[in-house]
Amino acid sequence: MRNYNIAVIPGDGIGEEVAPEGVRILDAAAEKAGGFKLNYEYFPWGCNYYLENGRMMAADGLDILKKFDAIYFGAVGFPTVPDHISLRGLRIPICQGFDQYVCYRPSKILPGIASPLAVKKEGDIDFVVVRENTEGEYSGAGGRAHRGLPEEVAIDTTLFTRNGVERIIRYAFKLAQSRRKHLISATKSNAMINTFAFWDEIFREVSKDFPDVRTESVLIDALAARFVLRPQSLDVVVGSNLHGDVLTDLGAAICGSMGIAPSGNINPERKYPSMFEPVHGSAPDIVGKGIANPIAMIWCGSMMLDFLGEKQAAGIIETAIAEVTREGRFLTPDLGGSAKTQEVTGAILGKLGKLPL
Ligand code: NAI
Ligand code: MG
Repeated sequence: MRNYNIAVIPGDGIGEEVAPEGVRILDAAAEKAGGFKLNYEYFPWGCNYYLENGRMMAADGLDILKKFDAIYFGAVGFPTVPDHISLRGLRIPICQGFDQYVCYRPSKILPGIASPLAVKKEGDIDFVVVRENTEGEYSGAGGRAHRGLPEEVAIDTTLFTRNGVERIIRYAFKLAQSRRKHLISATKSNAMINTFAFWDEIFREVSKDFPDVRTESVLIDALAARFVLRPQSLDVVVGSNLHGDVLTDLGAAICGSMGIAPSGNINPERKYPSMFEPVHGSAPDIVGKGIANPIAMIWCGSMMLDFLGEKQAAGIIETAIAEVTREGRFLTPDLGGSAKTQEVTGAILGKLGKLPL
């Protein structure tokens, strides 16, 4: 029996509502596929922990997490704590400390789900954004001075390293080779003439090693429009930390809802645990109502199992999700339905139980 140790960090807001739903499905998939077992340890880190302890996670949090095979993460951030403290105190230290330099974010229209775009249906949108996840605009380099005075200054430095840019671009090329062999690099080298010119140069250099992949460099503003106007033309998109962050909320929205988009923060070399979390945040506007869509969190579970090598269990989760959306009987309000969170999980469990292996 293969055993995997999973650190579960539900975090804040609806993170606490969808994480247990994800675990229910993970367990059902493990039982159905057989041959492996998941052992969970829960960590109560997040904004409430901060209000009690003055920090978002234990001081030795990274040491504790390091021994796990993967991290299953809900969402972090709540109106009780400023966002720059909550995000910088939990998600970002894990991504940076564990060198999870790939943020892998698929956008795919599920069967039965309507995109807000005209005449887009299943099959019309199926792309992956590969977001650089450890440096760029979110490097944290910078500072504030002269606080409260008229001469107050605030600086965030966009930081690109040759290693950092090259490895994310190389990862994206390899991914494109395994898909439809088309890669777009999101850039802004017309305005950010140092950092993004450097990014473009490295993109051109690396492209020579992948002659079978068709490439385009597209300015981020035009690319945002293209996500709406011609999403069929997208296969793999590689972007910096900020560009990838913004594009993937857009990717989720054009596939029907923030509530379905999964994400993996991946350390491809497997030196450290990788972390799987929905693209969405803690959704304070719907917290406590029992209507958070659990699909993003459940899909993240499938991605986690796939990464751990449990392809069959991963596949049945994805199929069960698709069967539930195709049927359309159990959808949460963000997808136009009236089902509760746990009813959606129940429907997915039902489909999962009936799937042939
Ligand atoms: P959000 O993603 O939490 O919510 C945006 C909108 O999408 C809201 O209307 C919300 O109700 C809806 N939504 C999100 N997830 C949903 C789900 N599963 N089912 C149904 N509807 C869903 O973004 P927002 O409001 O900007 O941020 C709230 C908090 O979350 C902030 O503190 C922010 O910093 C944090 N955040 C954390 C992230 C993370 O942990 N990776 C990512 C994004 C935001
Ligand atoms: Mg985001």
